[in-house]
Amino acid sequence: MNHSSLFSRYSKIRNRTLTLIQPLCNEDCCVQSLPETSPVKWHLGHIAWFFENFILQHYEKPFKPFHEIFSSMFSSYNAICQTKPDPKRGLFTRPPLTEILHYCDNVNERLNRTLTQIEEDEMLSMLTILGMNHELQHQELILTDIKCLLSQNPLNPSYQDGKSGQYEISSEGLLPLEWHRFEGGIVEIGHQGNSFSYDNESPRHKQYLQPYQLASRLITNGEYLQFIETGGYENTRLWLSDGMDWLKAHQRTHPFYWRENKDGWKEFTLNGLLPLDLNLPVVHLSFFEADAFARWSDARLPTEAEWENVASRQNIEGCFAENNRFHCMPATKDDSVPARILQLFGDAWEWTQSSYSAYPGYCPFQPDPDKPMSQVWDHAVGEYNSRSMVNKYVLRGGSCLSSQEWIRPSFRNFLPAETCIHATGLRLARDS
Ligand SMILES: [Fe+2]
Repeated sequence: MNHSSLFSRYSKIRNRTLTLIQPLCNEDCCVQSLPETSPVKWHLGHIAWFFENFILQHYEKPFKPFHEIFSSMFSSYNAICQTKPDPKRGLFTRPPLTEILHYCDNVNERLNRTLTQIEEDEMLSMLTILGMNHELQHQELILTDIKCLLSQNPLNPSYQDGKSGQYEISSEGLLPLEWHRFEGGIVEIGHQGNSFSYDNESPRHKQYLQPYQLASRLITNGEYLQFIETGGYENTRLWLSDGMDWLKAHQRTHPFYWRENKDGWKEFTLNGLLPLDLNLPVVHLSFFEADAFARWSDARLPTEAEWENVASRQNIEGCFAENNRFHCMPATKDDSVPARILQLFGDAWEWTQSSYSAYPGYCPFQPDPDKPMSQVWDHAVGEYNSRSMVNKYVLRGGSCLSSQEWIRPSFRNFLPAETCIHATGLRLARDS
């Protein structure tokens, strides 16, 4: 991709980011609702910081930062280069939102100038593409964090005022859950081709799979409600011991955004508090909840290799953020492709039983002292590579808050087992 088409793709992604924050008021943009979330203002400053810190600092001549302090204020790294959420980001009432937007515009102009001046430079292109993927990731984080913030407001505000009509309860009957059998054997997983991927998706390698079955669709709210009503949260035999500790510590008896009142179950969504739609996929489950449900169902969570072996044969289609619904859709039958497994992409990130670890032969990028920009690349990918590979499980497929262009069959998301604020759901698997 030449630098001018690179900048036009960059601008498209930035415009989408700005569109996503349009429904928000200034106050919405400043607050940090939980230590693991970030205010929208910080996300915006951080997106611009990525391009200023990893690209302009090394390619702009002379380099003139927009503000000296922004390099630490909007960095996601601590003093020893570890990525860490900072629970105090919500205290940054200054700079105001307008100045952060001005910072974004300033970085746009300087990046455009830099890309125009330097016609060809492989590392510059790679860093720009990495920055765009980083921004797509933060688009999902903005929606995730805003949902968490609005959910704590007694007004149950809607992110998109006046659009709740599109949340009509789905009238179509629920598609029965069916099982699809796969032979397994030696399969290959991991990224292939020359398109962008993170280093955790490589190398492509062989894995042996026993014959297995995968459910035809995601688990729904209705099915999860049965689990609750039959005492699923009280049945200690269904829960991992860490899961039991987590349940007790957080007094959890239902999914994170479910609320029960005299009118029955409701679910907080980005369009406010709505009656629970039993046909939609259940979302915002922790790994512990997904695992307990699978055990209750006499099934298990799929491994990431089982998931990818199937997903890599299907098109990347589904309910993504691009449809501006920002919530799941019910599974609908696709008669044109009868054997298709539904909802593999979009709707809900699917918990797998695979711990997040390096693939066989994985080689984190080694800085080459003869290539000064190599070190910059190594630092820039620090959020994704082996330094994060502990105490997390892999999730696959993207969600209704993910951008479709960010997702691919080999994409590996990873979260700690107790995480609920992301749009996480589950698909069942079992041995065949
Ligand atoms: Fe980031």
